[in-house]
Parts: sequence; structure tokens; C-alpha cells
Amino acid sequence: MAKGKVRVGVIGTGRAGGIHAQNLAQRIPAASLVALCDPDPVRLAETGERLGVTVRSADYAALIQREDIEAVVIVTPTSRHCEIACAAARHGKHIFLEKPMALTPAECRDINAAVAAAGVKLQIGFMRRFDERFCRAKEVLASGELGRVMLIRSTGRGPGGPGPWMYDLRQSNGIVAEVNSHDLDTLRWLTGDEFARVYAQGRNFKCADARAAWPDFYDTVLAQFTFRGETLGVLDGACPAHYGYDARVEVLAEKGLLLIGAVEEPGFTKVTLDGRVQAQAVRTWRTLFKDAYLAELEHFIACLQEDRTPAVTGEDGQRAVEAARAVNDSIRTGQPILICQEALR
Ligand SMILES: NC(=O)c1ccc[n+]([C@@H]2O[C@H](COP(=O)([O-])OP(=O)(O)OC[C@H]3O[C@@H](n4cnc5c(N)ncnc54)[C@H](O)[C@@H]3O)[C@@H](O)[C@H]2O)c1
Repeated sequence: MAKGKVRVGVIGTGRAGGIHAQNLAQRIPAASLVALCDPDPVRLAETGERLGVTVRSADYAALIQREDIEAVVIVTPTSRHCEIACAAARHGKHIFLEKPMALTPAECRDINAAVAAAGVKLQIGFMRRFDERFCRAKEVLASGELGRVMLIRSTGRGPGGPGPWMYDLRQSNGIVAEVNSHDLDTLRWLTGDEFARVYAQGRNFKCADARAAWPDFYDTVLAQFTFRGETLGVLDGACPAHYGYDARVEVLAEKGLLLIGAVEEPGFTKVTLDGRVQAQAVRTWRTLFKDAYLAELEHFIACLQEDRTPAVTGEDGQRAVEAARAVNDSIRTGQPILICQEALR
């Protein structure tokens, strides 16, 4: 197991990759950012120069073959996750893999099998599990203080996009995967229960350019889940929401209520003499979950150093992908869908 600094390569230096690379290079003393990979030469050069990383490649194969790297952080478009994660595992690299874990449950199983065969560690990028507010909620619910959870609702709305690459649901799984993976994981994690069934509806209200070629595409989704333990769950998602980045959860329990998150940016409210109260909406996930992105990677690095299993597993990633696919099946067929609970092989 790793001794001293853990040497890491980042594959994909876009929006989320830039954040992970910066945290590894500048904020996690136990890690060393050794190499970067991105086929986009401009992004690769910009990130490399900003963070002082000279080992750069356009091809991930070159990066995962390096013997001076113990772990990789994979932050490419989701369609490439399976191929790159399986290859990294075969080369003995520990893996931090962004959400959604992959496009299909079969791809998730392939990743989990490759990781198990290689004996490497895998963590999925569900950063809410490292956010202080969500962690407090988990603690309260796990303590039993509020009794049994009856109903949980997770709202996830992205400010901009979705990019046209998301319009083909067969290629992208749509916003329920790209935006609302976090909500799917939140529903499972906070209840400690597994999805049993879902009925979902989707509508395209805002993305007029998608309507003709992609009639199935939706920018707003409402999904109602039943858990195995009979808890009820609701996910509501939208992208683009335009007003901001909105991540809120409500948990109704036998002995009380939990509210996590707020529309307003914490810490700034203006009240004027005419009685008007003004606040600023949270604008982006980059700031709302800034500390959580750092904490999840600190956890990953600590797990490598201390030979521990990361708290967010490949099974967690797979369950969210299964649920996202079931939501899409329900929207497409207009029917409730049983969610696959096939054991991990
Ligand atoms: N956890 C979160 O909150 C969060 C936030 C944003 C994105 N994500 C996830 O991170 C992943 C990347 O999303 P993004 O918004 O950063 O996308 P992005 O388009 O901004 O960046 C992706 C980068 O990957 C590069 N790339 C493409 N193919 C590659 C390959 N074969 N090898 C190496 N690099 C390759 C692209 O050139 C691009 O620079 C997605 O899976 C997304 O769902 C997670």
C-alpha cells in the first residue's frame, strides 16, 4: 500500500476534472498530482501550466501505463468511464471515478469485476456524502432520534445546459443520470434502503432545439420511488433551471422533519427599509460543494494510505445507474418499473 504521498494522474481536465486536479495539486498534502490526460490540447495545456504539471498526454493509455502513478481520477464524459476504469484497474491503479459510474448496469458490473480482479480500490464521486449538512442529516437519521423515515424528497436542478450531447437518452441517460445521480444516491444513502419500484414522468419545457430530433428528451423529471422497506421517495430534477443550482432534501420521519440545503447562498441577505428582503440564489455546484469535493478526495487518498475501503463503493455507483435507467424506462413506457436488484458479481 502507498507510503508517503500518493501519486495520482487525472484523466479529463474539464469542469470537474479541473477542480479535482487543483485539489490534488494544492490542497491535499498527502497526494501528489503527477500527470494529466486530455485529448483537448488547450485544456490540457491550461491545466498543466496552472498547476505546474509537466507530464501530459492526450491518450489515457499512456497515463495508466506509468509505473510512478498509483491512482487515477477519471473525470471524462460518462460514456468513456467503463473503458478507462477497466483499463486502469487492469494496470493496477486505484480509481476515483466521477458519477454517473457508467452508462449501463452491465458496464458498472464490468468495472466492479475489473476492480475486484485487480484488487484495487474504487470510489465513486458522490460528494454529497462528504458535505457537512448531508453528513449531519445522515447522523441524525442513523441515530434513530427521528424514528422511521416515511417520505424523502430530493430536489436537484442545474442552472445551465443540458449540452446537446445529452439529447439522445440512449447515449447519455439524460438529466436523471447526469444531474440527478446525486439525488438518487442521496435517497438510498439517507434512508439506508434499496429502491424497489419507480414511476416517473418527464417533460421538455425549455429545450426547444431538442424537440424535433429527440422527442423523448426531457428537461424536467418527477420520479416516485418505493423502497424495499416501504419508505416513499420523490426525486424532482430540472436542467436548465436558470435561477441557480438547487440541491435540497426534505426527510419526513415519524418523529420530525429534516431540511437540508437552501435556495439562497448562505451568509448574505439584504434587508431594506421598505421591508424587502433580498438574497442571492446559489449559482453553481462548484461553490456549494467546494468543501465536499476536497473532502471526498482526502478520503480517497487516506483510504489508499491506510488500506481502507472507500465509503462510496462501486455498488453505490451501480445502484444509482440502475435507478436512473429505471426512471427512463418508466418515462418511456408510462408504466411503473421494478428496479433490478441483481447481486454484484
Ligand atoms: N460530482 C459532480 O458534482 C460533477 C460535476 C460535474 C461533472 N461531473 C461528472 O464528471 C464527468 C466530466 O464532466 P465535466 O462536466 O467535467 O465534463 P467536461 O466536458 O467539462 O470535461 C470532460 C473532459 O474530458 C476530456 N475527455 C474526453 N474524452 C477523454 C478521454 N478519452 N481521455 C481523457 N479525457 C477525455 C474532454 O476533452 C474534457 O476536457 C462526467 O461524468 C460528469 O457527470 C460530476
